Amino acid sequence: MLIEIPAVLSAQKLALVKQLLQSGQFVDGKLSAGMAAKQVKNNEELKTDTVDLNQLNNVVMGSLVQHPVYQSAAMPIKVATPFYARYTAGMTYGDHVDDPIMGPPQGRYRSDVSTTVFLNEPEDYEGGELVIRTPFGDQRVKLPAGHAVVYPSSSLHHVAEVTRGERLVAVTWAQSMIRDAGKRELLYELNQARESLLKNRPQEDETKRVDVAYVNLIRMWADT
Ligand code: NI
Repeated sequence: MLIEIPAVLSAQKLALVKQLLQSGQFVDGKLSAGMAAKQVKNNEELKTDTVDLNQLNNVVMGSLVQHPVYQSAAMPIKVATPFYARYTAGMTYGDHVDDPIMGPPQGRYRSDVSTTVFLNEPEDYEGGELVIRTPFGDQRVKLPAGHAVVYPSSSLHHVAEVTRGERLVAVTWAQSMIRDAGKRELLYELNQARESLLKNRPQEDETKRVDVAYVNLIRMWADT
């Protein structure tokens, strides 16, 4: 399931992120790609030693990881530092599945949830949709600046060719406490109902029962 997360980054934070990215240098994205991805990857990535990466990551990841929808949708236990990607006219990232294991040898994690944070406005470029192949057909995602989408890392996906302008995104991955995408989706749905009940009918017996079921399903399924 795809879950869109609105307003991850405020206008002020976005301006800071853009300013930092503009001061940095971008290099060929193939440099960070594995064998299969090299065949289809045609974008640019921020060269990490050319900017204040800590500041950049703190702004982007701090906002994402604290977002209640991200917490509920991803249930992360390990979150990767992001890549910052730029696509200019003619660039694309063909169909691929993200690597299952990521991170340095001493800090490996399994990728369960992929996230794209859109860093510039959809009007700034033509094309450049994130296209996720699902059993219900292709889902095309192109969101306003500062919004994010999360989807299972197991999905086949691509980035459509940018035909005008420039697309800027941050992409990151998380290992989830709930490994199975179906279980994660079920918990997310149940939590939607639970939060609404807790807000609107906090004293009702069924609210407490839904809360108990949610909490104990997490206890049953979570790996920490
Ligand atoms: Ni990908």
